[in-house]
Amino acid sequence: MSRLLSRILLLAAGLGLSSCSGGSVVVRGEGLDVSALPADIRTDYGVFAQRCSKCHSLTRALNSGISDDHYWALYVERMRRQPASGITTDDVPVVLRFLHYYSVEVERARERAKTAGLPTRGDL
Ligand code: HEC
Repeated sequence: MSRLLSRILLLAAGLGLSSCSGGSVVVRGEGLDVSALPADIRTDYGVFAQRCSKCHSLTRALNSGISDDHYWALYVERMRRQPASGITTDDVPVVLRFLHYYSVEVERARERAKTAGLPTRGDL
């Protein structure tokens, strides 16, 4: 799943398609390529990367397939309540803001791949 998602995103980026939207997400190793993120999202991503990598890899969240703000809110709350999560209530809106941005960008990349006639996750 993770390899497939990064392939889709890299293909979209490779075709120069990501430049259309003004934003993009590029999966690099464990997380995202920070330099590809808009400046205001980078700080949010930093909090997400710190708080959500304590017990599992970031890809667990990034490749979960969750794209709905409501479900993100439920998951982040569930993670926050884990013993010694280190996630504060102040972190929650910041993490959710990043996850919203991420979900929208993944959906855009998927649309771009579809428009370009490339196979999307649903086809494979
Ligand atoms: C204290 C440890 C801990 C922290 C911190 C943590 N997680 Fe988790 N996470 C878990 C455990 C344990 C599971 C597996 C059990 C479960 O689903 O509740 C999990 C599962 C998940 C899943 C489900 C993946 C799947 O395969 O269904 C998602 C999504 C997720 N975490 C996102 C996050 C996000 C986003 C953050 C940061 C806000 C975060 N996690 C921080 C422990 C943690």
